[in-house]
Amino acid sequence: MCGIVGAISKDKNIVPLLITGLENLEYRGYDSAGVAYFKNKKINIVKVTGKVNKLKDKLKENESSNIGIAHTRWATHGKATTINAHPHKFKHITLVHNGIIENFNILKEFLIEQGYSFKTNTDSEVAAAILNYYYEKYTDIDKTIQEFMSTIIGSYAIGFIVDNDYENIYCLKKESPLIIGVSNNTNMISSDIRAILKYTNKYYILDDFEYAKIDVSKVIIKSRTGDIISKELKEYIDEDANSSKGHYKHYMLKEIMEQKETILKTALPFIEDGINSLLTLPDLTKYKEIDIIGCGTAYHAGLVAKYLFTELTNTRCNVYLASEYRYQNNFLNKDTLSIFISQSGETADTIAALKLVKKKKCPNLGIINVKESSMTLLVDKCLYTKAGNEIAVASTKAYTAQVTILSLLALSHGYRNKTINKNQVLEVLKEFKNIKTLITPILNKKETYLSIAKNIYKEEDIFYIGRGLDYALSMEGALKLKEISYIHSESYAAGELKHGTISLIKKNTPVLCSATNDKLNAKTISNLKEVLARGANVYLITNTKIKDDSFKIINIPKTSDFIKPILIVIPYQLIAYYTALLRGTSIDKPKNLAKSVTVE
Ligand code: G6P
Repeated sequence: MCGIVGAISKDKNIVPLLITGLENLEYRGYDSAGVAYFKNKKINIVKVTGKVNKLKDKLKENESSNIGIAHTRWATHGKATTINAHPHKFKHITLVHNGIIENFNILKEFLIEQGYSFKTNTDSEVAAAILNYYYEKYTDIDKTIQEFMSTIIGSYAIGFIVDNDYENIYCLKKESPLIIGVSNNTNMISSDIRAILKYTNKYYILDDFEYAKIDVSKVIIKSRTGDIISKELKEYIDEDANSSKGHYKHYMLKEIMEQKETILKTALPFIEDGINSLLTLPDLTKYKEIDIIGCGTAYHAGLVAKYLFTELTNTRCNVYLASEYRYQNNFLNKDTLSIFISQSGETADTIAALKLVKKKKCPNLGIINVKESSMTLLVDKCLYTKAGNEIAVASTKAYTAQVTILSLLALSHGYRNKTINKNQVLEVLKEFKNIKTLITPILNKKETYLSIAKNIYKEEDIFYIGRGLDYALSMEGALKLKEISYIHSESYAAGELKHGTISLIKKNTPVLCSATNDKLNAKTISNLKEVLARGANVYLITNTKIKDDSFKIINIPKTSDFIKPILIVIPYQLIAYYTALLRGTSIDKPKNLAKSVTVE
């Protein structure tokens, strides 16, 4: 993963630019950070373990330079130590790297034979050493980069500076994202244009196997064969400029609350003019099957859609984890539509899965939140979720926005294939229009969630169960809790518990459950009785009247199945939030995680 940024300026001190860039890139990882810049014609490197704030404190206030590169890391090869932090300097070359060099061991052995010695066990130091090797061999930057590209197996976005070359930053990329931001007298590189919007919104997107030489006034982009490439200068229009926390203690809570607006904003283009708007969604009746692919929370949104498509529109739908999909036999064919779900549009496994589908020229559709992200440029067609900037690592408003699009897609499909009639469609559209009224009371039950959190926050194992759609939601509930509270939490199909997991239920083990399906509720309640009999404390989300003192009940309104997942997930999100709050964890940036997972 990792975020990289670099800047060169005729008239600005670039150190603050690098720090701001890194702060905005922390969603890509935050276990160590570092910066390298020219100071009195020498390269000065400052690194810390931990977040960018620490780096900021370590840099003396008057540190100044007009050229430098910086990095925020999510450790892959080598622990999160200062020495393993980037930038890595190998003789003439100082580099920041995002990605994984897969053949780094072979290359390292080769370099050791040539007399090189290494300080770290990172793949990135090897990348710096290989660049240095070719630089010493050819004394020519173009040749150095081209040879590097032919030698490396793996993924990289790299920015580097060269000893005694005070006027240029070089960068190159394969599979990991990299853009070049352009402004008067100052040019920058970054993993993401949004990280440098304070300085410019004009940028070039570097494609795989392209590299660039950047000085204060020029950007020269070349192909791997050294031909100059003329690129479109893009302009990023930021529709979501306000990314501050406001009065909230954490971004996560703010983002949970924002769902009052983001769901409607996402739905609006497809509901405002009734069925006409709904039918602007892609026609899926030409496909026999739907495959949905994603990771983490996006995968869980796919599981909700599987239920909606199969149960309500009688259409076969499979859901796959992208990391599995990319290495299995997928029986790809033109009659299957593959839907790729991603908040960031940068998740490495999801991109790889999408590339497989594209290679076979099979139809695909993206449901993506971040505009201009890598996946948006690859998919045949993209439906944007309008969740806005999601900053907390644990996804909340992006998930409900994904579910919204998927629900409307299933609804339009059901109308087209006549499994859902006009009145039912109109009813769902009405519910979507009314979503704010439906979810506000659920969002406002702080005392309920807090009191549950008080009961569970000291526990070590928590189980989430459900059947059908409720099972899909329980997976998201368990994920939210473990991500931010670090409590071991697992989700199981309610009927499956007795095949093993029930042996883990003991006195006071919390079991969270949603039962919102009239046909299945009685079965689920029986399963709850089974865990109660073994001492569990049960918390139940339901939309039916259940009179039973042995459960702690959270009521949600009765709606169609298309809206229901949104209502069920909110209590799960808030229980996770308040539990983590009581445990005092780093809620917005939980340990070991990153918002955008750009490595396998
Ligand atoms: C990471 C994030 C999750 C997210 C997953 C997929 O694990 O922490 O919140 O669900 O990646 O990310 P994507 O951007 O593809 O939705």
